Amino acid sequence: MVVMGDMIDVPVELGDRSYLVAVGHGARSRVASMLPSGAKRVAIVTQEGIPSEYLPHLDGYAVTHHVIGNGEAHKSLSTIEKLCSEFAQAGLTRADVVVGVGGGMVTDVAGFAAASYHRGIAVVHVATTLLAMIDAAIGGKTGVNIAEGKNLVGAFWQPHGVACEMDALATLPEREMRCGLGEMAKYHFIAREDFTALPLVDRVARCAEIKANIVSADEREGGQRALLNYGHTLAHALEIATDFSIAHGEAVAVGVLYASHLAHRMGRIDSARVDAHYEVVHGLYGLRHPLPSGISPEQLIVDMGRDKKAIDSLTFVLDSAEGLEVVSGVSEPHIREALADLTLRLE
Ligand SMILES: NC(=O)c1ccc[n+]([C@@H]2O[C@H](COP(=O)([O-])OP(=O)(O)OC[C@H]3O[C@@H](n4cnc5c(N)ncnc54)[C@H](O)[C@@H]3O)[C@@H](O)[C@H]2O)c1
Repeated sequence: MVVMGDMIDVPVELGDRSYLVAVGHGARSRVASMLPSGAKRVAIVTQEGIPSEYLPHLDGYAVTHHVIGNGEAHKSLSTIEKLCSEFAQAGLTRADVVVGVGGGMVTDVAGFAAASYHRGIAVVHVATTLLAMIDAAIGGKTGVNIAEGKNLVGAFWQPHGVACEMDALATLPEREMRCGLGEMAKYHFIAREDFTALPLVDRVARCAEIKANIVSADEREGGQRALLNYGHTLAHALEIATDFSIAHGEAVAVGVLYASHLAHRMGRIDSARVDAHYEVVHGLYGLRHPLPSGISPEQLIVDMGRDKKAIDSLTFVLDSAEGLEVVSGVSEPHIREALADLTLRLE
């Protein structure tokens, strides 16, 4: 990590595909330096509602703007087709570049459109949500949903650079901010360090660095990249059981607490470590989301079994004295006991 004035640069080391994540107020001004040499046209992909002040100024390029819809229903192959047609109409060649300006939805879609158009052109992201800054925009996972599942079609396509525009958090709706904080909470346990005292901009940079290091070590999720799913097994089940009325980051906050109870029931961590989870999720981030009512443990267990990490048994990322690990074959009694512990503690 390199600090230059108010800007923090985090490298993502991937050999000749390495790039920088620039974190700070005004980070969008760094985009011009991230564009590949030789690019003449820039297609900016964004959404209505994302203030235009966050779009980078790119003098000397032919810039076109491409607006995609809001919400997961628009994270679709038809959006990719529409974007690729627009890129062709704008005359984008293989030497040109896409710039995604928005949250994880925009960076996933813009990234996949860039990965597909002309079999792959460069992409740069300006992350405008907390979640995109610390997670979605970094690491090259791009994709869209199909009726059969979320993010089922996509590509690994690393960006040429990422600008985490801290100014953008000023207009981010409160619920979206909470969702980012839910994901941020998990990094406290992935890194096993206390960065609670850091100002937000430094914490964003530290989370980006943790993600960057994991991606550098395991680009295609053959091992430790799976640890980024801490708290996600219950979170996905809660999202399904509530028909997505609980937001992803809210569900992750609950899922992280649940994972601590499960690890405790399995004798992997002590009760002080469970309390440490509550101190971060409830205390530091104020994420006091209740367990949604009217959902039976049976339903949650079935939905957790459908999690993509579950191959032939219930699988969780769990804490231990040595850190987080992927644990398969977790027994149903432990799962039920931990659900009861969580329910009691959240009452
Ligand atoms: N590729 C990955 O590694 C990865 C990781 C995590 C999540 N994701 C994906 O990210 C998506 C969720 O991303 P998200 O949480 O950033 O939500 P989002 O991109 O859907 O944005 C949420 C809302 O906030 C608006 N918005 C964005 N920035 C704003 C700003 N600064 N001011 C005002 N409004 C703003 C958006 O227009 C949108 O309506 C999901 O589709 C998820 O699958 C991808």
